[in-house]
Amino acid sequence: MEQNVKPAEGKLGILVPGMGAVATTFIAGVEAVKKGIAQPIGSLTQMGSLRIGKRTENRNPKINEFVPLAKLDEIVFGGWDIYEDNVYEAAINAKVLDANLLNAIRPELEAIKPMKAVFDKSYVQNLDGTNVKKAATKYDLALELIADIENFNKINNCTRSVMVWCGSTEKYIEVSAAHQTIESFEQGLKDNDANISPSMIYAYASIKCGVPFANGAPNLTCDIPALIDLARETGTPIGGKDFKTGQTLMKTILAPGLHARALGVRGWFSTNILGNRDGYVLDHPDNFKTKEVSKLSVLDEIFKPESNPELYGELYHKVRINYYPPHGDNKESWDNIDIFGWLGYGMQIKINFLCRDSILAAPIVLDLALFLDLAKRAEMSGIQEWLSFYFKSPQVLEGLAPEHDIFKQLIKMQNTLRHMMGEDLITHLGLDYYQDLVEAM
Ligand SMILES: NC(=O)c1ccc[n+]([C@@H]2O[C@H](COP(=O)([O-])OP(=O)(O)OC[C@H]3O[C@@H](n4cnc5c(N)ncnc54)[C@H](O)[C@@H]3O)[C@@H](O)[C@H]2O)c1
Repeated sequence: MEQNVKPAEGKLGILVPGMGAVATTFIAGVEAVKKGIAQPIGSLTQMGSLRIGKRTENRNPKINEFVPLAKLDEIVFGGWDIYEDNVYEAAINAKVLDANLLNAIRPELEAIKPMKAVFDKSYVQNLDGTNVKKAATKYDLALELIADIENFNKINNCTRSVMVWCGSTEKYIEVSAAHQTIESFEQGLKDNDANISPSMIYAYASIKCGVPFANGAPNLTCDIPALIDLARETGTPIGGKDFKTGQTLMKTILAPGLHARALGVRGWFSTNILGNRDGYVLDHPDNFKTKEVSKLSVLDEIFKPESNPELYGELYHKVRINYYPPHGDNKESWDNIDIFGWLGYGMQIKINFLCRDSILAAPIVLDLALFLDLAKRAEMSGIQEWLSFYFKSPQVLEGLAPEHDIFKQLIKMQNTLRHMMGEDLITHLGLDYYQDLVEAM
């Protein structure tokens, strides 16, 4: 059965609000791969494969040969930032990538200049910039963003585009009255409601235009009823929140293994040092709180203490992030995990991950952009839970618990791709192989 996924014809615009470390590492990386001077390591859409059919069929195509994804040559980049630096300058400042690599693609990067941003300092107190739009209401700002998207597509001859929020983490807020319905949200935009953050205005503009939207930060952004409804109404795929990199990636790899072996966990202490601009923004308690909530949600969902109180009922989970400029983007994390086994005997696990934050995040931006564009062409809209694999705090429909186990997330993502292409889903039951063998004997 062949499903109806439209082909990826013409150019795809990838629009990023926030052209800092992650966004520039992503854009420079794609340009370097296009030039053949680097490899897209860590990107499933570029390097991953999946099994199709029975094990005996030996069909393991690359993902990008199995589903119709946009080719890297067909991508055009654009975005917004509160600073005027072009992508080359911003990438040099971010100090993630080697200057030799950046110089090899300098003209391509210099050509990408950020559009004026929608910014509100009350949401990111540690930043100040001048490349900012001015208008009487938040609604006017949203209309300006919609005009930016339309102009970008026109100038660059794009048949379609997607947006991925790579901007700073905003201060912690909860869902409030203005977020409830499309009408209350639009009224809130017109009334300059303080609970509507800049990232929500970008998300609104994107979804209103039918442009798929992903949120790489832990802010609420599109995780509010009004924008979920708008996504359904405009047939737009959305997803969030917070790219799953570094320490949380390790957590969602390790915790499912401990849970699988019914090993108890008494405590999990996680601390980080980080010296980039993201770390500086997170140094403010209001912004740290947004990140903390996102990072803390992971273990409860994997261990389900209510179902296993003797193993996880006492679990003490603590997460700290400390701003430490000398380390720049090279985040260092330490985890101390107190576990216990047979008859309650205690053991410890220590993890010291010397990672590179943006190197882990960049391929996620690429995969999310390409998969959201695929989802749109497959006529999928609203929350794309199958992309939970990429998020620390996956967005789900109200009433559903998010899935954090990275292995279950991968199975779900692969089965969704099989489903889109009309292939059998894989259950890993495998009994039929043995049945066939017995019958053949
Ligand atoms: N690097 C990772 O591993 C990782 C993982 C998960 C989430 N994130 C999140 O991704 C985001 C980007 O991280 P980064 O390391 O690139 O940070 P960064 O500080 O280098 O870049 C963020 C950029 O966003 C800009 N910005 C802030 N508010 C804006 C607005 N309203 N409109 C347009 N631009 C705006 C800033 O000027 C800055 O250039 C952060 O929210 C971070 O928490 C990063």
